[in-house]
Amino acid sequence: MATALIILGAGMGTRMNSELPKVLHQIAGAPMLVHAMKSGAALEPDLTVIVAGHGAAAVETAAKAYDPDAVIAQQSEQLGTAHAVAQARGALAGFDGDVIVLYGDTPFIRPETLAAMTAARLTHDIVVLGFVAADPGRYGRLIMKADQLDRIVEFTDATDEERAVTLCNSGVIAAHANTLFDLIDTVGNDNAAGEYYLTDIIGIARAKGLSATVVHCDEAETLGINSRAELSAAEALFQSRARTAAQDDGVTLTAPETVFFAHDTVIGRDAIIEPNVVFGPEVTIESGATIRAFSHLEGCHVSRDAVVGPYARLRPGAELAEGVKIGNFVEIKNAQIAEGAKVNHLSYIGDADIGARANIGAGTITCNYDGVFKHKTVIGADAFIGSNTMLVAPVKIGNAAMTGSGSVITRDVPAGDLAVARARQDNKAGFALRLFEKLRARKAKGA
Ligand code: UD1
Ligand code: CA
Repeated sequence: MATALIILGAGMGTRMNSELPKVLHQIAGAPMLVHAMKSGAALEPDLTVIVAGHGAAAVETAAKAYDPDAVIAQQSEQLGTAHAVAQARGALAGFDGDVIVLYGDTPFIRPETLAAMTAARLTHDIVVLGFVAADPGRYGRLIMKADQLDRIVEFTDATDEERAVTLCNSGVIAAHANTLFDLIDTVGNDNAAGEYYLTDIIGIARAKGLSATVVHCDEAETLGINSRAELSAAEALFQSRARTAAQDDGVTLTAPETVFFAHDTVIGRDAIIEPNVVFGPEVTIESGATIRAFSHLEGCHVSRDAVVGPYARLRPGAELAEGVKIGNFVEIKNAQIAEGAKVNHLSYIGDADIGARANIGAGTITCNYDGVFKHKTVIGADAFIGSNTMLVAPVKIGNAAMTGSGSVITRDVPAGDLAVARARQDNKAGFALRLFEKLRARKAKGA
């Protein structure tokens, strides 16, 4: 059967107290909306519709960055979740298949769970994803009658007896598109919030003789995010899962609770990640690499047996080949560092190509920016860059060339040459002794 996803993300997220639309708040470096889209993608949907309202333009940009084929439906007034789903009707005109409604603020639904819902649809008209909550709080409650889901009651409208029910609504609902839109047409807004509740379709469906059931999942999967506290709890949950997954994949984490992953971090077997390492988006680390303590990496690739840090920063476009060594207080941006090259201390390497086995001395800086344009530095294989060399780009250092310490290099250096670009040293005999005498005499006089 054809499948379409509708992901609701129009709500303002009042409890976030934010300028940013709620579904664009990030978990592990990706908007929570993208996490929801990633879960839904496991169903290989024929169509994905995102319902956007607050900050719709920004929501559209984020959604399309992940899936260029996603369709945006506008909900300019947020009148409730049923009203939100109704806005997707145009985008799904003529669609004959199942619809799965996901909430953009519920990012952790597992593919297996969605598959279980699809399976349950074979025997029931409507399938709702539910979970037993340790603390049901403000979640909608699932009211069962015999083996059928009878209705869903929202917390604000629930009686004390209903509030005592711990089986809660995750928000995920599956039904045939025609069933869903027919039911939504009949939803009213006569409730405590004055909203059109999607959850009302269950009671309406049952009254019409349709069947409804609940697929259960773990509470952790259905974590809904409505506040900053819940956002940080979601982040913590994501991180703890990512740490366990990395360890299961054969990665050594010396102090797992201090390592932070992005949603897409990839780390090979037998890599070692020391304490307090932070991964931004788009990082891949190959087998056997070591990321030493207090390093920050984003948008970079680290090959086999390379060593990074402690206290290193790899920024987007940093590509480290096998056996490269990047040491303390070194920043690398948009630069290819070839096999076995070393940048061990206190350097900035940006917009550069560094040849195999080159040694970049302490304090070396590629001066890549002239205030308007960025320029490239190319350093050949086996080159030796003296400590504290300023490489004023664009500039090329040939294979096996050298620069003298403290040089400001503004012209290309041919292969095999030594470039020295600093003031020549001048020793003044005995001058220091005479100067010290003079200064001490002045101090003795109390000057
Ligand atoms: C909703 C459910 C509740 C469930 C809970 C799970 C309803 C009526 N209630 O409550 O049963 O336990 O989620 O987390 O569905 N949205 C729109 N347009 C709107 C209103 C909401 O797009 O007009 C979107 C929001 O952006 C959000 C999602 O729908 O992504 C859920 O809305 P929210 O207001 O957070 O619902 P809850 O009160 O959490
Ligand atoms: Ca919510």
